[in-house]
Amino acid sequence: MKVKILEELKKNRGSYLSGEDLSKKFGVSRTAIWKYIKKLKEEGYIIESLTNKGYALLESPDILYPAEIEGLLDTEFIGREIIYLDSVDSTNSYAKRLGEKDFIDGTVIIAEEQISGRGRLGRDWVSPKSKGIWMTILLKPDIKPEQASQVTLIAAVAVMKGIKGVCDTDIMIKWPNDLVHNGRKLCGILTELGAEIDRINYLCVGIGINANSDEKDFGDLNTATSIKIASGLQADRKKIIAEVLKSFENYYSLFLKNGNISFMLDEYKKASANVGKEVRVITKDGEFKAVAEDISSNGHLLVRRDGGRIEEITSGEVSV
Ligand code: BTN
Repeated sequence: MKVKILEELKKNRGSYLSGEDLSKKFGVSRTAIWKYIKKLKEEGYIIESLTNKGYALLESPDILYPAEIEGLLDTEFIGREIIYLDSVDSTNSYAKRLGEKDFIDGTVIIAEEQISGRGRLGRDWVSPKSKGIWMTILLKPDIKPEQASQVTLIAAVAVMKGIKGVCDTDIMIKWPNDLVHNGRKLCGILTELGAEIDRINYLCVGIGINANSDEKDFGDLNTATSIKIASGLQADRKKIIAEVLKSFENYYSLFLKNGNISFMLDEYKKASANVGKEVRVITKDGEFKAVAEDISSNGHLLVRRDGGRIEEITSGEVSV
């Protein structure tokens, strides 16, 4: 009922709806309407109540309630089920627990805050409350485990497009899936899977976007930035989520149909901060300098080492 009243107020944003009309429309008492309005106000909605005129919605809060995102979402299956958490250890850990049970393909887990946000290579991910977009897309893809790393590159391109669709920010991709602005990291992606030898049971695509973080939120970390710092404007987190999920669905569906990411390689390479540059390759076996030459059709980085030998890097990261 609360959601229905909210929808009605949103349809008539800024104009007054009388308690009597609302009570007739939804078949509940005026007192019940008043109670739901009170609840919405407590949740942060700015609703003006005037005797003789009724209620008018003036502003929605910057909170990632599913009902708010659903109103902006234009997808078939990604984000059709949204789990909203005020606080969580990590949306990826939550998704993995859910993945072990039964879940709807395309479920999105969103949290305002992560207490133990996780990054790649065992690092921590700073996730201050309501400052960013900390979310995981939980998928059931019918692909082989060895194809999963390609979903990571899909997510990088999709997130870049999604953010650019809302904010005019210059973003590049640092292989495999960091989004950077002027060399500073704005978004990271952590893909994890639950699999058997030849099939995937679930795939978690964890996306961390520094949306409205301020310099002080990063402490000593001078390699990170946010959309707000980069653009000078407050980022609309709900719009960004809707755009990111839409573009992710487009690319991911094409990938499932084609079985590889060759359809978006040109786009990835165009956005690459590394291809054509000298890089330092960091793998679990050590570090070395090389020139990033190309990206293979399965998303691996091809580098030229001293002496001219081309090496295929399947995992790890590079620094410019
Ligand atoms: C990286 O190291 O670049 C990856 C960072 C991934 C962070 C996101 S935030 C949402 C999801 N939950 C996590 O604990 N991590 C990912």
